[in-house]
Amino acid sequence: MKQFVGAIDQGTTSTRFMIFDRSGAEIGRHQLEHRQLFPASGWVEHDATEIWENTRKTIDAALTGAGLVPSDLAAIGLTNQRETVVVWDKASGTPVAPAIVWQDTRTAPLLDALDGSLILSRTGLPLATYFSATKVKWLLDRSPELRARAARGEVLFGTMDSWLIWNLTGKHLTDVTNASRTMLMNLDTLDWDPDLLAHFDIPRAMLPEIRSSAEVYGEAFPGVPIAAAIGDQQAALFGQTCFAPGDAKCTYGTGGFLLMNTGTEPVRSSHGLITTVAYRFGDEKPVYALEGSIAAAGAAVQWLRDQLGILDSAADSETLAGQVEDSAGVYFVPAFSGLFAPYWRPDARGAIVGLSRFHTAAHITRAALEAICYQTRDVVEAMAQDSGTALDRLRVDGGVTANELCMQLQADILGVPVSRPAVAETTALGAAYAAGLAVGFWESVDDLRANWREDRRWQPTWTAERRASDYANWKRAVDRTLDWIM
Ligand code: G3P
Repeated sequence: MKQFVGAIDQGTTSTRFMIFDRSGAEIGRHQLEHRQLFPASGWVEHDATEIWENTRKTIDAALTGAGLVPSDLAAIGLTNQRETVVVWDKASGTPVAPAIVWQDTRTAPLLDALDGSLILSRTGLPLATYFSATKVKWLLDRSPELRARAARGEVLFGTMDSWLIWNLTGKHLTDVTNASRTMLMNLDTLDWDPDLLAHFDIPRAMLPEIRSSAEVYGEAFPGVPIAAAIGDQQAALFGQTCFAPGDAKCTYGTGGFLLMNTGTEPVRSSHGLITTVAYRFGDEKPVYALEGSIAAAGAAVQWLRDQLGILDSAADSETLAGQVEDSAGVYFVPAFSGLFAPYWRPDARGAIVGLSRFHTAAHITRAALEAICYQTRDVVEAMAQDSGTALDRLRVDGGVTANELCMQLQADILGVPVSRPAVAETTALGAAYAAGLAVGFWESVDDLRANWREDRRWQPTWTAERRASDYANWKRAVDRTLDWIM
């Protein structure tokens, strides 16, 4: 009997392949970063061919490193950065343009002409540059010839899951969680919405078939099925075993994403959250989630490292920020891609406020870590208002959770304990779990729950007064960033 399941985790900054055993323990991994292209202010692009090549290389290297061959795997699950748009030529398999990344705000001028209430009611998504539809429209609007070819099915659209499944199996598919982020899928029918396709002028012929998140789509290697595809934030929810309504987690990667399982009925938000599909097993009823999406979490630290050069590595942010007691009145709002939940303001731009000559790189770095936590508090507050229940603990995962200072600040700023699981790679684990369930490697979600173990818990230490006054200052800083488009 096969003892392992693999997972491709195609994220915003890197692609990794991980191998897990039946207890959910990591057996091997390999990771490769890809280039981040910023050709103009607000534009963010990836090279989809580079990402596909990295995917192949990481699979090979992880298997070799673990002393395994593909046929040792019972199945492979796929999880991916969501919303990012790839359009490729069906005959040659070559992308027709760079992939337009979820953070990209070039489509902001298109928003005014779109019907926000139609879109919200059909998709559960607010009108924003974040989702795929405006990005596809932008590409097609620039080339009538491309739109005509798309209508004939000669060029295809897909999010990263579709692009990789196409390359791995030759099939043009997506899963329902990824489709729910395109702004083209009807949340009730779980199919492409004809009115929205007409509204965006996107031909149905270029769209993939929508399938469940856990089923066999095809074979990646002889006898090794691709048996799950699930958006990365939904996969992390799965990896954290948040299977019951009310279960929630926050994943801190390039962005930050807090998702709460709401069960088999979609819950509509009145406080700026997204209604989205959490996962769907085969023919079972879909499970929905409320999501608070934060555009820039780890990206704030990446910016200090890459654009300002005040850090050698993201990990250094903990040491540098730890050199000062607090940020001494500095607030950093990293609205690089506008502000997402609960504000949904593509016109916001980043700001660092409260500076004097006294302040150093340490204060600014600490303010960047605090910004990750304040933005999370913004969505936790919205989640409490929408769901009617306050979180009594926040389950966290993702790269930023290695930063212990940041997690302490998160507990202080939220006023509830923050809990990190033993397996921090919950995104890849969630995709492996979904694939393993689809092929019977695991019997039921109860097997998976038994695998979850806490690694560390941070308790709040701030007084209630400090928590309230510093959060009020954060809100004032956010106000300064709105309406900043020049
Ligand atoms: O919606 C965007 C999200 O899927 C990206 O996640 O972890 O790559 O920042 P991450």
